[in-house]
Amino acid sequence: MADAASQQLVPDDQAESTALNDLGWVGRDRDAPAVRQLREYLKEHNGIKGLEVLRPDEVERAVRLFYRDGFVVVSDALDARQLDFLRGGCDRVIHEMTSRDRTRVGNRGSHRYSFGGASKTGHLMHHPEWAMLLDLPTVTPILTAIFGSDEYISRGGGGDFCLPGAVEYQPLHSDMGERREIPLPNGNRFTFGSFHDPRGILSYRDLPAPYVCCNFLMVDVHETNGATRQIPGTQHSRQPIPALAEEPEWMKLSAVCPASAGSVMIRDVRAWHGGTPNLSDEVRAIPNAEFYAPWFREPMPPSVPRDIYESLSEHGRRVARYIVADPGQTLETGVRDDLGYVPARHRK
Ligand SMILES: [Fe+2]
Repeated sequence: MADAASQQLVPDDQAESTALNDLGWVGRDRDAPAVRQLREYLKEHNGIKGLEVLRPDEVERAVRLFYRDGFVVVSDALDARQLDFLRGGCDRVIHEMTSRDRTRVGNRGSHRYSFGGASKTGHLMHHPEWAMLLDLPTVTPILTAIFGSDEYISRGGGGDFCLPGAVEYQPLHSDMGERREIPLPNGNRFTFGSFHDPRGILSYRDLPAPYVCCNFLMVDVHETNGATRQIPGTQHSRQPIPALAEEPEWMKLSAVCPASAGSVMIRDVRAWHGGTPNLSDEVRAIPNAEFYAPWFREPMPPSVPRDIYESLSEHGRRVARYIVADPGQTLETGVRDDLGYVPARHRK
């Protein structure tokens, strides 16, 4: 069965020559009354009240907040040079992706995109800008403390971005699930998740943090430019995640902001989260690196080319041990023409 969203993709010859922040608001009016009204409302009400933003040296406190809330924000994870470098990588890939999508159908809803989902390897670790995220002096000690060991595992990384004009909320979701097989539009099947307990007793939600995602903020994130909303303390919840129509207003306003560019949001990916509207004039990108606990595995396709791997620190090479290409193996990398698989909840 062909996917409805991918059928609508039309190449955009203008995208490559368009400035990054001018790529949005396609077919949408930034000054429409409903958009103006929502923008004013978010300015007034959006954001977690009293959000704590930590310094990189507050390792113990970071671990405590991470286990309490299912996420923690740490400022200055990237220095000015690293931030600039990663912004450049995002700029390049965002232009590549939008040049395949003139009407900004997106692969996570209109004007909303997953980097990894659009990549042939499922990840962006073949770009040095993303590989840099495998071992950062500011983040490695926090990850080591969260996992209680430096033997944790990189599964790759990608992240997401929303263009200005992403006026809809992304539904709340978890980035993990019980093990299941998902039929793909091309007839193949995709295995998702690590295990399924046929007794119905143990769920992935009962585990200590198995899978941690580090999202790096490329811009100062505020009330109206598409901050991620996180629902604190939901990482172990077995309750059904509310659909948009049932989601209470306080959850919609539980955006992780304000936080400055160069900060990292370290998430237990099971915690309920979703994108919020980007009604601003700038692209909000949050490239990421994703890690498994030393004792956890899911299928991990290779995504780090050999030359990138050789350039990593000793610790970087160790965490990338399961995703490095074999010697002599050439990975097929680049952006998928169909921008990748679109989850059922985003299909029309
Ligand atoms: Fe997500």
